[in-house]
Amino acid sequence: MKRIFLFVLSALALGIPALASANVDALMQECNGCHGDNGVSQSSDVPTIAGLAEFVHVDALFIYQDEARPCAESEYRQGDTSRPATSMCAIAAELSEDDIDALAAAYAALPYVKAKQDFDADKAAAGKDLHDQHCDRCHSEEGTNPDDEAGMLGGQQMGYLRDTFAAYADGSREQPGKMQEKLEALSADDVEALVHYYGSVQ
Ligand code: HEC
Ligand code: HEC
Repeated sequence: MKRIFLFVLSALALGIPALASANVDALMQECNGCHGDNGVSQSSDVPTIAGLAEFVHVDALFIYQDEARPCAESEYRQGDTSRPATSMCAIAAELSEDDIDALAAAYAALPYVKAKQDFDADKAAAGKDLHDQHCDRCHSEEGTNPDDEAGMLGGQQMGYLRDTFAAYADGSREQPGKMQEKLEALSADDVEALVHYYGSVQ
């Protein structure tokens, strides 16, 4: 029921008649209402999902279905912004496995576009040292290599990265054990330096 409702809403937004089954383009319009055109975010608290490795994207949506990761209530940023606020957990709950596979494949095929953001050059330099020492092994090419299957860090929205570090620190988002060792060794200043470093990748 809800899923059909979601589709009818996106179909209305597109000005096309509702079809019997949802298709990936209509679903993507829905996603882009927050994630930006072609999945390239214009909002600091929303990640860019264009170019995200397919495996990481599928995994993230299943984790949201299990409500095993924080999913804040969020307003729509573009299109029909009078739609009621919703969350990634509520959105993922409406998706079938086929929808998830199709969405992840479609966004993986879109080019990753680094965000233009203000950053502090001194903090970014300190962050680069930390990254090269502790993170590059799994997050290569400034954290922009989708083949690492470890998310997109360089050029990612800084607000989203800050929220993510906070979720890892308070345990509300699960992380790989070997990464946890690295993150637990960081001070609050180190984390902020890393956020500025990833923001400086443009
Ligand atoms: C109402 C706004 C909104 C809509 C609509 C939305 N998202 Fe999100 N999405 C967010 C926010 C905000 C986050 C950041 C984490 C959080 O708070 O849940 C996020 C996070 C994500 C992530 C995690 C990225 C990562 O690197 O781990 C994925 C994947 C994602 N969304 C995919 C989608 C897909 C696919 C759709 C459409 C079916 C969609 N989103 C629709 C707001 C939205
Ligand atoms: C042993 C490999 C490994 C190391 C070392 C590592 N990471 Fe990760 N990281 C991963 C993997 C795998 C993921 C994806 C897991 C997931 O999505 O739950 C990830 C995800 C992330 C994310 C979330 C990305 C997103 O899209 O939401 C951030 C932020 C992050 N890592 C930062 C760091 C930082 C900063 C360091 C260094 C201090 C680091 N990682 C070191 C493997 C690693």
